Amino acid sequence: MAVVLALLPLTAAAQGPGEGRPLVERWCMACHVIERESPTLAPDRGPSFPVIAARPGTTPESLRRYLSVGHTHMPDFALSRYESDALIAYILSLR
Ligand code: HEC
Repeated sequence: MAVVLALLPLTAAAQGPGEGRPLVERWCMACHVIERESPTLAPDRGPSFPVIAARPGTTPESLRRYLSVGHTHMPDFALSRYESDALIAYILSLR
């Protein structure tokens, strides 16, 4: 982790799960379970974030790619680089 952070530009290193949390609550919670221990299910919607985070294939790059193209059932988010970094940090913190 320390190595990864050292490679990121300073602005990105300043972001963490803390910044992502309010964004996730605002934009993602309606369709995704956003916590590891969550009693609230988002039925018939997207896969839960802990499940996504636990997949071996999930990396910051795969999430960034996904978030930049948008997907069928997701509204089009125009995420800034800062916002997507924060969202990605949040999702990966659920590992
Ligand atoms: C309107 C409902 C809805 C909202 C809001 C929504 N999602 Fe999704 N999301 C889905 C659905 C449905 C899927 C799975 C099917 C698909 O790809 O369309 C999905 C899939 C995903 C995946 C890929 C999961 C995989 O299987 O690899 C990611 C990552 C993701 N969403 C992130 C987010 C983030 C981050 C937000 C908030 C910024 C968000 N979603 C908001 C409905 C939503």
